[in-house]
Amino acid sequence: MNEDRLFSPFQLKNCQLRNRIGVAPMTRKSSQHDSIPRRDVLDFLVRRAENGAAIVYTEAIVTDYESAQGYPGQSRMVTQRQIEAWRPVVRTIQDAGAVAIMQMFHCGRIAWPEVNPAKRIIAPSPIAPKQNNASTGSPYPVPDEMSPFDVKHVIQGFVETAKGAIAAGFDGVEIHGAHGYLISEFLSLYSNQRTDAYGGPIENRYRFAHEIIQAVSEVIPEERLLTFRISDWGGVDREVSLFGTKAEYQTLIRLLGKEPLDAISVSTYDYRRNAFGTEQNMAQITREATNLPLMICGKIYDRASAEDALTDADIVLSAKSILLNPNWVEDVREGKPLPIRKSEEANIAYTTTPLP
Ligand SMILES: Cc1cc2nc3c(=O)[nH]c(=O)nc-3n(C[C@H](O)[C@H](O)[C@H](O)COP(=O)(O)O)c2cc1C
Repeated sequence: MNEDRLFSPFQLKNCQLRNRIGVAPMTRKSSQHDSIPRRDVLDFLVRRAENGAAIVYTEAIVTDYESAQGYPGQSRMVTQRQIEAWRPVVRTIQDAGAVAIMQMFHCGRIAWPEVNPAKRIIAPSPIAPKQNNASTGSPYPVPDEMSPFDVKHVIQGFVETAKGAIAAGFDGVEIHGAHGYLISEFLSLYSNQRTDAYGGPIENRYRFAHEIIQAVSEVIPEERLLTFRISDWGGVDREVSLFGTKAEYQTLIRLLGKEPLDAISVSTYDYRRNAFGTEQNMAQITREATNLPLMICGKIYDRASAEDALTDADIVLSAKSILLNPNWVEDVREGKPLPIRKSEEANIAYTTTPLP
């Protein structure tokens, strides 16, 4: 048991976390034309900080004005107005005692054409996901294979967005390398069939992530954080294991371990579930391959599951439970009986109903 651990501090580089609980990144699709989340969506993040979370992640912020947006109502961090909108929110989160981290992403081939300003969907290879877009019922379009120009352009989008986060005062930024979006698409053979330096063995498929991490790290001041999110599953074609074997996944984790990263965040459906046909779960398999601080997420819903998840990780993140219960951290502290939340319940995130 890790009873005392959950509410003990953790030193994440220069940031002292007051406990081991964070708000996982959650897209809310609330922005209008300005790529700024709705007021109540920003207030939701502040309230989670005021109610005891040690880390508050933003929703996945889109990295450019061209092909990075995958869903309607996503937000950006590249204009002065966007930065000004976030600055007081970030400050209030910090004043409430939490660390604020901006997550950023490029959707790659998981894209609604309707919201793609460039009318051009890009990915490592011209292969569409097998599954239809669950929200529109339409097939995903076959993406354009990214050219060397596209690669450089996309990297620049991550850099500019990271600069925006720093200007807005965030304690750090996260590069979203999970869930089958663009970076994840490069990492996995399932979506990367390239024959150039970005395709083939895992070391090559990793090159795109490496170049993004390196370029972004150059604009992150020394005292701020840089984290990377990873998963073995994608939001579309969910049943596919993106890395296939424990050996390949651990090679990737070791490559990440050489980067200027301050933590790896592992996203799962269920932190308990064993992976790659082994008797180990994702946290255990990741821990074996790195000494970096680890965050784990997936069906952590009450005190017992949070403590158990900390056996092989340093920080637990919650999405659905903390989305639906503003007092989740306190309820966990008190050891209250709490429900496992279903995905359908989380759909409220995408309505205009302000969440408490
Ligand atoms: C409404 C909602 C939006 C999400 N948006 C993101 C996102 O923007 N970026 C991300 O990395 N994960 C996102 N996720 C996944 C969660 O961060 C988390 O990995 C997943 O829900 C499992 O955690 P849970 O069991 O605590 O819900 C989202 C989840 C939900 C429920």
